[in-house]
Parts: sequence; C-alpha cells; structure tokens
Amino acid sequence: MEPNLILTALFLISAAFTVVTAEYVRPQPRKDLQFPWDPKPSSQPQQVHISLAGDKHMRVTWVTGDRSAPSIVEYGTSSGKYSSVTQGESTSYSYLMYKSGLIHHTIIGPLEHGTVYFYRCGGQGPEFQLKTPAAQFPITFAVAGDLGQTGWTKSTLDHIDRCLYDVHLLPGDLSYADYVQSRWDTFGELVQPLASARPWMVTQGNHEKESIPFFKDGFESYNSRWKMPYEESGSSSNLYYSFEVAGAHIIMLGSYTDYDEDSDQYRWLKADLSKVDRHKTPWLLVLFHVPWYNSNKAHQGEGDSMMAAIEPLLYAASVDIMFAGHVHAYERSKRVNSGKSDTCGAVHITIGDGGNREGLAQRYIHPSPEWSVFREASFGHGELKIVNSTHAFWTWHRNDDDEPVRSDQFWMTSLVSSGCVAERRHELRKILISP
Ligand SMILES: *[C@@H]1O[C@H](CO)[C@@H](O)[C@H](O)[C@H]1NC(C)=O
Repeated sequence: MEPNLILTALFLISAAFTVVTAEYVRPQPRKDLQFPWDPKPSSQPQQVHISLAGDKHMRVTWVTGDRSAPSIVEYGTSSGKYSSVTQGESTSYSYLMYKSGLIHHTIIGPLEHGTVYFYRCGGQGPEFQLKTPAAQFPITFAVAGDLGQTGWTKSTLDHIDRCLYDVHLLPGDLSYADYVQSRWDTFGELVQPLASARPWMVTQGNHEKESIPFFKDGFESYNSRWKMPYEESGSSSNLYYSFEVAGAHIIMLGSYTDYDEDSDQYRWLKADLSKVDRHKTPWLLVLFHVPWYNSNKAHQGEGDSMMAAIEPLLYAASVDIMFAGHVHAYERSKRVNSGKSDTCGAVHITIGDGGNREGLAQRYIHPSPEWSVFREASFGHGELKIVNSTHAFWTWHRNDDDEPVRSDQFWMTSLVSSGCVAERRHELRKILISP
C-alpha cells in the first residue's frame, strides 16, 4: 500500500474505534416536574385513562372535583357524534387530611377491534380519542416501569408517544406519590395524553403501598384510581389479574401480596393458567414488580421468595417473557429457569427505568451471571412487537439526552413454536389439578 493509503486506513480505523469506545455518560436524576396551579371547573373530567376490561370492552376512568358529576361516557366512531352512552360507577377515598375527587369508572363496549373511538366523560369537557387493539397479530406493547413524574419521566413518555403501540404495560411504581396524595392527581394529569388514548395495564410496586400501621391498609389510592380487570378475570383482588389481547395472555401479579402455595393469589394463578388456550393465545407474558433475575446490586435477592414459590408453576406453564421493574436500570436475560439458562424457560426483562426521582441503579455484580445478556443503567422504555404466533421483536430505547436511542434489540421465538409447551403439557396439568 502507498504510505498515504496506509495513513488514511489508520485514520479510518482509529476514527471507527473512537466512535465505538466513546463513553456514554449516564445522566443525573431530574427533579419532579412543577405542576402550576390550574383551576378547572370542578365538574370538568381530569386524569382520564383507559384500560382493557374483558373482551371488546374498555374501562374509562377519570376524576372530577364535583362530587355529584355523572359517571357517563358518550362515545362513537366519528368526532362529536356519540352513538352510545354508558353509565358507570364512582368512588372516592380519604387519606389523612386529603379527600380525593370523585373517581369514575365506566366500562364501554362492545367495541370493534382496531378502531378509533371518540369519547367524552361526564357529559361535558374535551373530547378524547382511543384506539382499540387489533383482534390478531401483530400487536405492539410499550413497556416502562418506575415512572414517577420527573423531567426524565416526561422524556420517556414523549418517546413512547412517538412509537406506534397498542397497549402500555407497566410493571409497578406509577406516581411516586409516597403518601402525598395530590401527587396521584398530578401523575394522572401527566399521563393523560397517553393513557386516555391507549389502554394502560398496570401492576403495583412498593411505591403504591402507602400503608400506615393500624390505620391504613395498603394500596388504597392505587386500587381506587387504577382499577384493573380483576373481576373480569375471576380474581378477588385488584392486585393480581389477567387479560387477553390479540394472541397474548398476560398475567399481572402482586409482589407485595401473599404468593405462597396456599395463598389466594397462587390459587387464582392456577385457575387462570388452566383457562389459557395456547392455540388462541400462543404468547404468555407475566408482569410483577420485584425482579427474580437481577444482577444489579440494587434490591439484590428481594424477589427470591416469590420466585421460589411461583417459578416452578410458571415454568411448567411455559411463560415466554416476564417483565419486572423496581431496579432503576435495564437488564435482559436468556431463557432461564431455576437460576440458570434453560431453553424452555422465560426471558426476564427488568425495566424499572421510566425516570423517577430516585435516579439510576448503577452498581452491578461482577462478573456478570451466565444468564445475563444485556444490562445498562439508563432511563428508557421498551417495545415488544409480537409479529405472529412464533416471532416477536423486542427493542429497548434509552433516553440519550432527550432522544430515544435503540440500544438493545432481539428477535425471539415463542415456546409454542419451539415445542416446549407441548412437551410440558402433562406436567402442567398435574400441577394444576393438585389441590
Ligand atoms: C412470523 O414472522 C417471522 C418474522 O417476520 C417470519 O419469518 C415467519 O415466517 C412468520 N411466520 C408465519 C407463520 O407467518
């Protein structure tokens, strides 16, 4: 080679090397957003959010200051023309000096799949728009936990808003109200633009508990405001439930309610798994707050007892993916079971990096465990696109400054397609029929 060619080559190699090794500088936590006092007419609907409520139905939830406001939702498929109206129910709660507004829950439907509806709450106020998920694949889920209400939360929500998704899955820790009840209201306002347009399916984390010994049981605000389809899925508690969308059966578990073999949650889980038909819903997903496979030093071992109680059952049931939050970082595992990689186990994804004020969990165990594929302490969100009964594509987008940057991605195949489901059918049946 000519000397100048060699120089050029060296320059190019070193330039490429510089790009690859450039350190990504982890951002600092951001402060809670300031919500200016914004007095609205007390009858005006606020904090509107929607959630799936059984086949072809959607629950619309909103809050009014006015305690006599009606719980009606008017809706239809063209703007301003409401062909249907449904009456719902309302509730409220008190917490120390705080008294909540009237919290309305109204189930609308039957709705067509994959259709835009226009709706209005309480017979007045602005019109909202929602889109129902399709009946069939493909379907896309946005996933982010541990949101809070900081500048980073806003950044994460902006990125999710830019993605074409059908349903938001949230593995616990919503508002970070932490006993200050008005923060539930500001969180409701913060997420309204997204949560009024696509169903938000949530499970609870430690920040939802807000219990006070001898005085307040836990989860009162959470249960009042974020009612999920537990009755529709045969559960007696809002802390665990399931739902089906397109070809996915999705189970939401509670990390902070009993999960031992003789608990209500475990009994309900067995009953729910016995109803899953993998021909109809080939993909089986589970969400809960405290991760079982976590190589971050934060919250190390906290999920162990729940994992010991429930993992054998979920392994027999061939769960494809388990999402958790709690640790403020991102981590993805191989298919695992019983602490090691296993081709018939679930992929575990910790995605507690929505952007809360506590900041990131940056210390990891070294060396990285055999089962850990990717781990990084950055804020961000995930997107799961289930393409068909056999293939799904997962991406994780970190908030690089304020731009979403796709930093991890992988194709996965379902346990139905790999034969694991058929292989363990009898084992599962045996567990499910045992008393
Ligand atoms: C499912 O999607 C994958 C990825 O796009 C594709 O390769 C495969 O052929 C599809 N399978 C079926 C049965 O359509």
